[in-house]
Amino acid sequence: PGSREEDESNKGLRVYDPAFQNTAVCHSKITYINGDNGVLRYRGYPIEQLAEKSTYLEVAYLLIYGELPSKSQYSNFSHEVMHHTFVHFNVTELMRKFNYDAHPMGMFISGISALSTFHPDANPALAGSDLFKNDEKTRNKQIFRLLGKTPTLAAMAYRHRIGRRYNPPQNDLSYAENFLYMLDRLSEENYKPNPKLSKALDILFILHADHELNCSTAAMRHIGSSLVDPYSAVAGAAAALYGPLHGGANEAVLRMLEEIGSIDKVPLFLEQVKDRKRKLFGFGHRVYKNYDPRAKIIRKIAYEVFEVCGQEPLIDVAIELEKIALQDEYFVKRKLYPNVDFYSGLIYKAMGFPTDMFPVLFAIPRIAGWLAHWKESLEDKESKIWRPRQVYVGPSVRSYVPLELRD
Ligand code: ACO
Repeated sequence: PGSREEDESNKGLRVYDPAFQNTAVCHSKITYINGDNGVLRYRGYPIEQLAEKSTYLEVAYLLIYGELPSKSQYSNFSHEVMHHTFVHFNVTELMRKFNYDAHPMGMFISGISALSTFHPDANPALAGSDLFKNDEKTRNKQIFRLLGKTPTLAAMAYRHRIGRRYNPPQNDLSYAENFLYMLDRLSEENYKPNPKLSKALDILFILHADHELNCSTAAMRHIGSSLVDPYSAVAGAAAALYGPLHGGANEAVLRMLEEIGSIDKVPLFLEQVKDRKRKLFGFGHRVYKNYDPRAKIIRKIAYEVFEVCGQEPLIDVAIELEKIALQDEYFVKRKLYPNVDFYSGLIYKAMGFPTDMFPVLFAIPRIAGWLAHWKESLEDKESKIWRPRQVYVGPSVRSYVPLELRD
């Protein structure tokens, strides 16, 4: 029962839809998903074609600006992004102050949030609340900075975690190459990461770049709807991504596979899942009720990476889990298939990333999607501050009893 005030509304029928399972909150031209048929397209282009033929920065441009760039647009965009990869010295100092065992995702989120204080030109409190709506140049500047600086923050978090000095970016490398460079090498001249690995990482970045209104992108739109600066909004979106039901699932999958350990333990583990004692991380999706098209591509890339780095033995456990689960009535009935996180962690592990870096590797490319949604919502004439309603089920009116009269 709600109070009278709660029920009075001139907005028409109010629908109770816990967890927004069937609520559309905006019009969007960015990403199309058909969950029943396992279809994913960015701006109309099938994900399979983009993964095969495009590059991450081109896809970022496509997502944010709506069209594939011309040659000059691409070269200008790449130049701008790669020339915004450096961060202020005090950001470096900030990142150095974390505990030696700080989770890289916590460091990454904090670093992004800190960026808002270093770029007051992006602060609507100082520059006016309509700043981004009216000023395309200022908006683009924040886009370049966020795309450029987030891999640097991620690499800093990684280097700190392994107790090494941070490597400054190399802006003549590609986006993925520069990231691998910052993780790996201290001033080794003409260093270039293995092209097969940088290509694999670039494809993983493309696959993770957007996924319409997932938990973190909804958070980005929600926070952005208050017209806060985009660094604060991206930090909030990254926090939403961190959870094990969303982007943190890749880390949870790896820990689960390590715990299972060998294929003979798979049936027992799946029995525990069916008894609801465990969760099969990397399986199931709010929208896909079919094989996640990204998981199909990632499974293929895994073997290409293994050719360079050596086979990751836990792949056998993953394949066995998938094989048994896809034949089991529990999973078939609920349409539970591997999602994007099921195989990605195995690639990251084979490439030598520590498990707690996995959510960060998801977050870096998702920045493009968050920014595309941020920009689209700023340009949407119907957009307003997000403010859902509730169904109040608490007590009706009561009279306050002073403390001295209570037992
Ligand atoms: N393991 C076991 N059972 C599952 C799983 C799973 N991974 N996923 C769903 N189910 C079961 C639920 O228990 C439920 O069963 P019931 O109807 O008998 O109660 C049914 O399938 C429907 O699941 P919901 O939780 O209602 O589905 P929802 O859409 O709310 O959740 C989610 C989707 C969060 C992704 C869920 O499938 C899950 O927890 N998966 C594991 C975590 C994961 O891999 N997350 C990454 C998703 S992809 C991404 O965010 C990038």
